[in-house]
Amino acid sequence: MSEPLILGIESTCDETGVALVRGRQLLTDVTATSMDEYARYGGIIPEIASRAHLESLLPTLDAALVQAGVGLDQVDAVAVSAGPGLIGSLTVGVSAAKALAAVLGLPLYGVNHVIGHLAVDELVDGPLPRRFVGLVVSGGHSSLLAVGDLATDVHELGGTLDDAAGEAFDKVGRLLGLPYPGGPHVDRVSQHGDRTAIRFPRGLAAAKDRQRHRYDFSFSGLKTAVARYVESLEDDGELVPVADVCAAFSEAVNDSLTAKAVQACLDQDVDTLVVGGGYSANSRLRELAAERCKAAGITLRLPPLRYCTDNGAQIAALGSAAARSGVAPSPLDFAPDSGMPLETVVAR
Ligand code: KG4
Ligand code: ZN
Repeated sequence: MSEPLILGIESTCDETGVALVRGRQLLTDVTATSMDEYARYGGIIPEIASRAHLESLLPTLDAALVQAGVGLDQVDAVAVSAGPGLIGSLTVGVSAAKALAAVLGLPLYGVNHVIGHLAVDELVDGPLPRRFVGLVVSGGHSSLLAVGDLATDVHELGGTLDDAAGEAFDKVGRLLGLPYPGGPHVDRVSQHGDRTAIRFPRGLAAAKDRQRHRYDFSFSGLKTAVARYVESLEDDGELVPVADVCAAFSEAVNDSLTAKAVQACLDQDVDTLVVGGGYSANSRLRELAAERCKAAGITLRLPPLRYCTDNGAQIAALGSAAARSGVAPSPLDFAPDSGMPLETVVAR
């Protein structure tokens, strides 16, 4: 018998995503985004995002079914992002998923969006190894995870104590007058700069912090150092070397992320690092992670860019992993959780 067909629905932030996955095979993945509406505000407006999900959900669902050439009657289970994310946005997706599951009489998996960023890699690179370390880097998270079974065994090793990597990039982008969201722009500009021109601090790199916060990150001190550097040049009437600032800042963030991720693999005695999340589109992260994993004999699994940003495929992939592991579906009355803990993979 073929594996179950999973319909995945994603609506944690500004992307409405619907995908269909059978086993580890992606049939279709359709995404609508409301990102363009936020440029003039310089940040996501939750109320606008919720309304955009309401408008986009059914057309996105229809498009996914048409593209895959399947009817709702062929779907075997529904998976939806249960959190973490914006509560209004989550509520739209969860309500739609519950309605579909109830009407069609299907099992429903309310899954963790962040763990979905790792699950999507199975659709690209095949089954994950028995144990691995996951690095999820996005606008809201910079987390290191020790993972066994994706659906049942996720252990949080550490995370950011203040800003997430993407968030720090967005703030530095704003500081340098780059358009919103700053992350991709800082990345683009950094490619024309000299990453050794300025030495910015690495958070939690001191010996005492390396003990207590072995797998944690901190980027707020770095962000302040960038702000001070820029202000002092401006005060002296000097030109800010924007490309060098972007390159040196990016180097500091990616040095911390990759050094600690590789360290976690060595400590955990695992030979695979899986990287996911919107920030993993960052060019220098991809380069440095590849370099350092190779040097340490670690296999790096890093999905292509289109699976790094939020999408329905990551949710369908995790729902599929949960079904495969025999995890009980979520109760129909589970609540979306804006602060869903990373070790909770399926909502109860
Ligand atoms: O995972 P994601 O799509 O949404 C969240 O769940 O947060 O991540 C979006 C974040 C934003 O902060 C964005 O600026 C950042 O990822 N980002 C980047 C790049 N592409 C996206 N940051 C740095 N370099 C990039 N190339
Ligand atoms: Zn995300």
